[in-house]
Amino acid sequence: MRFDLAARDGAELPAWEPGAHIDIEIVPGLVRQYSLCGNRHDRSRYTIAVGLESTSRGGSEFLHAVVDVGDEVRAAVPRNRFPLVPADKYVFLAGGVGISPIVPMIEEARREGAEWELHYGGRRRSAMAFVAELERLDPQRVRIYTECVHGRPPLSRIAADAEPGDAIYACGPPSMLSELEMEHAGVAPDRRARLHVERFSARHSVASGDAEFEVVAALSKTTATVAPGQSVLNALRSAGVSVPSSCEAGICGSCETKVLGGTPDHRDYFLTPDEKKSDETMMVCVSRCASARLTLEL
Ligand code: FES
Repeated sequence: MRFDLAARDGAELPAWEPGAHIDIEIVPGLVRQYSLCGNRHDRSRYTIAVGLESTSRGGSEFLHAVVDVGDEVRAAVPRNRFPLVPADKYVFLAGGVGISPIVPMIEEARREGAEWELHYGGRRRSAMAFVAELERLDPQRVRIYTECVHGRPPLSRIAADAEPGDAIYACGPPSMLSELEMEHAGVAPDRRARLHVERFSARHSVASGDAEFEVVAALSKTTATVAPGQSVLNALRSAGVSVPSSCEAGICGSCETKVLGGTPDHRDYFLTPDEKKSDETMMVCVSRCASARLTLEL
């Protein structure tokens, strides 16, 4: 489903760049992120596309079943963790509703006169958003893969064929992105294009062999035990410590928390490698602790 969101008072909405998303409050305390996929020069509305997934954690289901034309939802200003950087050529890869952030990127590439191509995979054509519009744009550059007819997009060829000055932008299911990352890592470093990925849901962050540890919320003067398979976030909430969160998948940054002691085991997709190395903050929804005790500024 496609949703057009306008300000209640009709005011102009804040500007955004391709790759940006907005937070939407589904119900108080439940916030989900949706990529903007409309025309960014039309400041009267934000457009999002929402796929109904069997794995929905409430957000997509709510928007599909409950929200109707004219209803009000609360949304935050756009943020962008997936910005389009200059490149010789853009190789876009989308799986399912992962096409959403890619659509405005293609618009931008076309506006700039840049080289681009799109590989877009989905279970069946009728369930693939924007497919007809994209094909109309430029049939030579748009390759559609429906699982029953063509199988999945050829990830190893996509990673191998991209040139070093190119940028690959990929968004879609975690399995597709993980496979692409593996294929990309297998290309010789001097032959690799830059790879940018946007995840809608995280890989499994609980590994077998995870050990129990203690978490101390220093400001609340509360200590809790984090069991294997339990998140720091849940352990703290069970102990009565309030922690903000949204995606609970290590993607959005809402639960970023200052680390005062201990060695975080970072498992999120939000912090940069340098930020992870500094161990100054961590995402308590997915990351754990490599030492016996973790102290947080909470
Ligand atoms: S709640 Fe989104 S990163 Fe933790």
